[in-house]
Amino acid sequence: MSGIESVLKETRRFPPAASFVEHATVPGREAYNVLCDKAVNDYEGFWGELARELLHWQKPFSRVLDSSQAPFFRWFDDGELNASYNCIDRHLPHKANKTAIIFEADDGQVEHISYQQLHDRVARFANGLLSLGIGRGDRVVIYMPMVPDAVVAMQACARIGAIHSVVFGGFSAGAVRDRVQDAGAKAVITANEGLRGGKSVPLKATVDDALADAACPTVQHVIVLQRTPAQPAWQPGRDLWWHELTQGQADHCPPVAMNAEDPLFILYTSGSTGKPKGIQHSTAGYLLGALNSYRWIFDAKENDVFWCTADVGWITGHSYVAYGPLAFGATQIIFEGVPTYPDAGRFWQMIERHKVSIFYTAPTAIRSLIKLGAKLPQQYDLSSLRLLGSVGEPINPEAWMWYYEVVGGSRCPIVDTWWQTETGSHMIAPMPGSLDIKPGSCTLPLPGILADIVDEAGAPVEPGKGGFLVIKKPFPSLVRTIWNDPDRFKKTYFPDEFNGEYYLAGDSANRDEDGYFWILGRVDDVLNVSGHRLGTMEIESSLVANPLVAEAAVVGKPHDIKGEAVVAFVVLKDARPEGEEARRIAAELKNWVAHEIGKIAQPDEIRFGDNLPKTRSGKIMRRLLRAIAKGEAITQDVSTLENPQILDQLQQTQ
Ligand code: PRX
Repeated sequence: MSGIESVLKETRRFPPAASFVEHATVPGREAYNVLCDKAVNDYEGFWGELARELLHWQKPFSRVLDSSQAPFFRWFDDGELNASYNCIDRHLPHKANKTAIIFEADDGQVEHISYQQLHDRVARFANGLLSLGIGRGDRVVIYMPMVPDAVVAMQACARIGAIHSVVFGGFSAGAVRDRVQDAGAKAVITANEGLRGGKSVPLKATVDDALADAACPTVQHVIVLQRTPAQPAWQPGRDLWWHELTQGQADHCPPVAMNAEDPLFILYTSGSTGKPKGIQHSTAGYLLGALNSYRWIFDAKENDVFWCTADVGWITGHSYVAYGPLAFGATQIIFEGVPTYPDAGRFWQMIERHKVSIFYTAPTAIRSLIKLGAKLPQQYDLSSLRLLGSVGEPINPEAWMWYYEVVGGSRCPIVDTWWQTETGSHMIAPMPGSLDIKPGSCTLPLPGILADIVDEAGAPVEPGKGGFLVIKKPFPSLVRTIWNDPDRFKKTYFPDEFNGEYYLAGDSANRDEDGYFWILGRVDDVLNVSGHRLGTMEIESSLVANPLVAEAAVVGKPHDIKGEAVVAFVVLKDARPEGEEARRIAAELKNWVAHEIGKIAQPDEIRFGDNLPKTRSGKIMRRLLRAIAKGEAITQDVSTLENPQILDQLQQTQ
């Protein structure tokens, strides 16, 4: 880990206001310490108690943790429950008419959906799925716009025991195809079109592309929500309108009793290879993590209006839109559009309009909104806010201060939440009524999360020294396996280097003298672009699949808004292009990647070389490419380089 050192020297700290602490779910540092001690002293008792207290069980569990098949840990595994029942039905006796979802459409139209209405919509859709023969254990891919129906689809799957796999609506046909194939999906749920920023997104056409040429033989049905009047191409027998499927269906559908360890969903995420990983989450452990962290970290109260801006295509949209807030019985916003349409005041206007009290977004959104209108929030009444959150990437202290002062009026704690698709719920984040916060630090682990920073040998490192972020004990919401690939699961997350005991997060971090965690970034070949995880190998494989390309290497470089931008170094099969031709081919390759994976993976910059810098054994030296991408002089050792002259060429192409 040499070279991983923090350069941040942040000394500001902000204690929670006494008025906040007074009403906090976990009030004060002492209350936090008590919970942490309880977890350490009786780990299983701690989690078992939370699981009994927070979840409704159709059959109670008698055993908390089974480690006999480690690292394939099992939690509460003789218990039975239903996630959809826990998110909806159990609230009906006392809050059937409470608003579960406030939906604001791209064009500003608003719809309030009560828990009873949500129940009925989920039940009708679940019955529709059952009528098609979709049931327990079947995989269903959801490729939807950010509308309440996306949550209805997820909840309906959970209700009947089908395993959903949501694919972000910004991914392209190739990405949809890979995920449908890997999951062996029986059905795809989509919409004719989505609406974002006044433009339509042809989701159904992309699904058609993904399924073309009999590429996905497992898919029997494509269910299409009619979001706009557009009439998409139709394959009779396979394609069905959502409204026709649900017509006449009963608004009652018994929730299936699922085993605690039955998979609730699969969500694909990037790793160090070209193939995305199907992160498989359990029913009980996952739901417990989502609900409990929602309660603790957002200091949730019955009257809050919660708004997490993430799309359901990402883990944040699973845990803090589709499951956590609903399991709590909260009122939350679902927003179809983008923060900059019709102008960069949209978020602030919506906070005013719906009296949002808890707002959870990503640093990339904060940075772009600062750039587009740092003073805009002052034009709106944001006094309803009481808590702010950040997720997806480290937040730089300037953006943090702006968020704190301008958006939060210096009165709202900021919860900077570190976690991952694999962890299912918050791991390191401040309990807002317990801990002082520091701009840029995600502070301390949640009680029951035994996070640490270790060196290559697994030994803890001293404060201020960088190392691997690990979690030393399994916890309920941890990924159970990689769908269809248990070996990769073991190798990636519980590697032999640490005796197979620690969960290896793939991030580097360090701790300050207060024990606060500061995340430094990924240690593997994964980029974080606008808070989204992209595998460099995935982008490289896509580039190499282009007939013009012989070889490609992808690295990240710092970017003001996105955090990191994609830079590709490409060797063509023909001679290295220059001038106008280089620009034309670069544009063509950028479009190619957008088409193969999605616009989020599109390189910002493409540089052509006759070759790539390689060691004598043929390994591409990415650290040199990273330095070139950043425009830095190369001061590193290049003695192992096979072809040192290539560096000059790659530097010049700027
Ligand atoms: O590198 C960390 C970064 O995002 C990665 C997880 O990405 P993903 O699975 O897509 O989930 C994103 C939403 C939870 C982590 O390995 N990351 C996430 N949150 C933070 C963060 N880095 C620093 N600070 C955070 N709060």
